[in-house]
Amino acid sequence: MASASSVSLMNQEVDLDQLPKQQFWENNYLYKWKGFWLFPNMIKSVLDIQSHFKACSDDIILASFPKTGTTWLKALCVSILECQSKGDDDNGGDQKDDLSKKNPHSCVLTFESEVYGRDDSINPEDILSGMPSPRLLHTHLPYTHLPDSMKKSNCKIVYITRNPKDTLVSFWHFAAKLSAGSNRGPYPFEKAYNEFCKGGYPLGPHSDHVLEYWYEKSKRPENILFLKYEELKKDPKEQVKKLASFIGRPLKEIEVEEVLWKSSLDRLKDLEVNKHGAVLTSNIPNNSFFRKGVVGDWKNHFTEEMKKNLDEITRTKLEGSGFDF
Ligand code: A3P
Repeated sequence: MASASSVSLMNQEVDLDQLPKQQFWENNYLYKWKGFWLFPNMIKSVLDIQSHFKACSDDIILASFPKTGTTWLKALCVSILECQSKGDDDNGGDQKDDLSKKNPHSCVLTFESEVYGRDDSINPEDILSGMPSPRLLHTHLPYTHLPDSMKKSNCKIVYITRNPKDTLVSFWHFAAKLSAGSNRGPYPFEKAYNEFCKGGYPLGPHSDHVLEYWYEKSKRPENILFLKYEELKKDPKEQVKKLASFIGRPLKEIEVEEVLWKSSLDRLKDLEVNKHGAVLTSNIPNNSFFRKGVVGDWKNHFTEEMKKNLDEITRTKLEGSGFDF
């Protein structure tokens, strides 16, 4: 029988008392499990996923550290797949535009929270079996915690990353927005910064998350694509072509334009569907995923000292990896 301080599922058990523990901001405790900081419900999801998830060879898995461009990547992939399925629906296909009806996070489910790890009684297998092929799924999990079934299958993984300074600033704004209704006020940025630098962030440390996928990509370039938010901003057409070809759906020039427009921040932000409501099980407001979407917003929050310090931490972590932000 599992103790109150353990997370268990079937015959697997993780004793939380044995793991390094740390409070995250004013919220719950994070536990360091196999190198990464996770909330207990995430650990439970990982156990569940590991026991039950069966990858299909044509699955497309989007992976990201939070606030690194997940929403954009989801929107792009939904639009790319729609280009290729024109003609499949009753209208002859020309009208297919799921993003006009659903938030990107409701179109592509994050599998550790919206397929597995749900509070309701919906069976994950029912959700998965109802998905059209290829299944498009997302995860924030580090590579270490992906199920073996996924690692051994031939499925495609697309990882998106973003420079750590903008990632932190984006996370801080996102959290501030979520806590806007409470009387707590935003968490002090300087404290958030110090904690980010120490690595104790949900799914962190950020650089380790990135490096795991980076090394894996080096071993299996045909299965893992690495994208940078900054490169997508700088050269969206080329990056989208690369993404589409990688997932086996090369685009015509005119389709690239269409995909970029359908997935653009300006368009998504203004859609009625994203102005109201919330994402399925997580209850996160649809509008909280869209903010400025620029590179370098960290300059509005970091002192010179903060920049130097985080750059140095990042440089040391990435040294010798061949990767740089
Ligand atoms: P900012 O907070 O810097 O504006 P995630 O999707 O991983 O949660 O990341 C959120 C960040 O991506 C936010 O960045 C958000 O504004 C930006 N974003 C959301 N949708 C986007 C889109 N379609 N194009 C570009 N950036 C987008």
